[in-house]
Amino acid sequence: MPIIWDPNRRLINIETKTSTYQMKIDEYNNLIHTHYGGKIGDSDMSSEIVYLDRGFSGNPYEAGKKDRTYSLDYLPQEYSCFGTGDFRITGLHVKEANGSKVCSLHYKNHYVCKGLYSIKGLPRIHGNADDDNYETLFVEMTDEVSGLDVTLIYSVIYDLDIIGRSARLRNNGNELLTIEKAASMNLDIPYGNWQWIRYIGRHAMERNIVRSDIYHGVQSVGSVRGTSSHHYQPFSIICKKETNETAGECYGFSFVYSGEHITEIEKDQTGSTRVILGIHPDNFCWRLEQEAELELPQVLLSYSNEGFGKLSRNNHRCINRNIVRGKRSKERRPVLINNWEATYFDFTGEKLIEIAKLAHEMGIELFVMDDGWFGNRNDDNCGLGDWTANEEKLGCSLKELGKKINDIGMEFGIWVEPEMVSENSELYENHPDWVVKTPGRNPNLARNQLVIDFANPEVCDYIIKSLSDILSNAPISYVKWDMNRSICDKHGNSLDADRQGEFSHRYVLGLYRVLETLTTNFEDVLFEGCSGGGGRYDAGMMYYTPQIWLSDNTDPINRLSIQYGSGFGYPVSTMGSHVSASPNHQTGRQTPLNTRTTVAMAGSFGYELDITKLSMEEKQQIKKDIYTFKEYYELIQKGDYYRLSSLEDKCTAWAMVNNDKSEALISVVYHDVEANQLPTHISVPGLDNNIEYNIIYIDHEEIPVHRLSGMALLNGGLSILPSNIEYDSYMIHLVKR
Ligand code: GLA
Repeated sequence: MPIIWDPNRRLINIETKTSTYQMKIDEYNNLIHTHYGGKIGDSDMSSEIVYLDRGFSGNPYEAGKKDRTYSLDYLPQEYSCFGTGDFRITGLHVKEANGSKVCSLHYKNHYVCKGLYSIKGLPRIHGNADDDNYETLFVEMTDEVSGLDVTLIYSVIYDLDIIGRSARLRNNGNELLTIEKAASMNLDIPYGNWQWIRYIGRHAMERNIVRSDIYHGVQSVGSVRGTSSHHYQPFSIICKKETNETAGECYGFSFVYSGEHITEIEKDQTGSTRVILGIHPDNFCWRLEQEAELELPQVLLSYSNEGFGKLSRNNHRCINRNIVRGKRSKERRPVLINNWEATYFDFTGEKLIEIAKLAHEMGIELFVMDDGWFGNRNDDNCGLGDWTANEEKLGCSLKELGKKINDIGMEFGIWVEPEMVSENSELYENHPDWVVKTPGRNPNLARNQLVIDFANPEVCDYIIKSLSDILSNAPISYVKWDMNRSICDKHGNSLDADRQGEFSHRYVLGLYRVLETLTTNFEDVLFEGCSGGGGRYDAGMMYYTPQIWLSDNTDPINRLSIQYGSGFGYPVSTMGSHVSASPNHQTGRQTPLNTRTTVAMAGSFGYELDITKLSMEEKQQIKKDIYTFKEYYELIQKGDYYRLSSLEDKCTAWAMVNNDKSEALISVVYHDVEANQLPTHISVPGLDNNIEYNIIYIDHEEIPVHRLSGMALLNGGLSILPSNIEYDSYMIHLVKR
């Protein structure tokens, strides 16, 4: 059983395969965090807390009279509250009706349930309830004065060293409580010097890695853009200075939430590190009426003492097994072709059919019609909101076009952007009060479009109905759900003035309800997320959309770092990745087709270029590549992912290894070319020491196959052939002899 209660020492241990998480209820009924890290057996780690009178660190009233060393100002806590003597950053800020902002939580009770916890209206880890791997701990805390009850929830995935942390607030008092900040988790790490790895970026250049020491003071990253954003990921890692891919301690924090978030870190006066993660408080203020509840989104906490590689693989497995859902996510995903970079807005039905026919001949299985198929949408200034096909442009109805694509032998998919509206649309004309804007002010425009108010249930019902009509009336088996701007001017027309601070979270809850309804009612449709590429690439969206267009940047060399950064928290199966034209439309860079393919294959694979303009040789190559992709699909999408290089290296290399380690696929991409090249030598982990592998360069029959054992590949390493073609790449198949 992963959760163990020791009533004599009042200790709760959460055991996972290689970690222990421990908390203790102390003599004052405070819930003290005593350990999170490697295994500790049945030791009580509270013995290692050093109690000292630190001066200016006050004492709770009940302790202070007899013990001036007991202070919430330095004690490691499970969940921190503002106002009662903990002067660090705190997770919970509550205002009572009398204006008091002080809250003090004490332990009341706890219990354990089999299975994983289901959070009303929010994405979360799921698993079979009878599986012994899963168990959930509920710790009930209360603030006796205000009547606020907080249940801390820990859903354990034993085999993956993952704990899904969340909390539920309930007002059991007699008056209104206003929640001004409510973090989903707090982790105090009392000892050690740590580093923080976070993923920062901008549109089309997402998830660049920043690694730096955690210094004294407060550091934070977050988003107030209405979405998780291109700019700061809701996934980050705390690690030791010496931690690398294969060794050392690290903790992962992945927020299963797609809205505004903040990760805050403070190193305090005693050198202790506190991490807080939750909904961003800047635009958050929640009225918790008597007997009302507020469920907070989940954070996936993971631990590895074998470096980042293992941490990533556990997160990948968790997302593939315990986050993504639905029939289509489990089946082999179709190889798709999207017309965006092929035509942009400038297409006709005839042109699409021409592309589809050729694509089908090459082995592509799904045709996706991107933006521009509806209303008067011929550029990005107008047309959003009226989801009626432009039959003049298509030359037929949506249904007929879908049928034509099906007749070719392909599935048919469409692009939509349901959260947006243009001013010159019928939807806006009929419902100007449905857009997000503040009374008396003109709203901010972005791409000349306005946001529809998903915090309003009536709007969500309308969107469900209008999309259901489209999906029921045409043979559509794929939807690309886009969202192309940040949200400001936050004000919901359906909310009272004193509930405006609930807008951003209610927007996300509305979005989740719409997605839940549509994905449930249309289980044969594959939904792909998108927000100008990777602006809403998070574990929350993955619960509804098993793949997400990773970035609007399709340059394979830029993509290497975007995919590299994304891979720390998320599996390749979630990364929408396409082969596009050369020179690339975003960077102008010219790259060989094999490299564009190698990079796109490390994702949910597809094409996004005008294939009718390719040479015969290129078309033949693509046909061959698609065959190769299908052959290696299981290995690429379901294998274990190993990073074999760092960003500083002259090439990027990674490997996928299958379950029984009988096969692996290594991909290597050169960033540059130089004269008189030195060999690239890489160590390949993750294989079976005792297996002899044939080493086969795919598509390079001229390179002789040779053989090495798993042990030799790890300890001796593999020399990759140099190339004098700029940005060349190789895919190398290792297969058990
Ligand atoms: C966003 C998406 C693109 C494309 C365009 C269409 O930018 O990320 O892939 O769909 O919108 O307008």
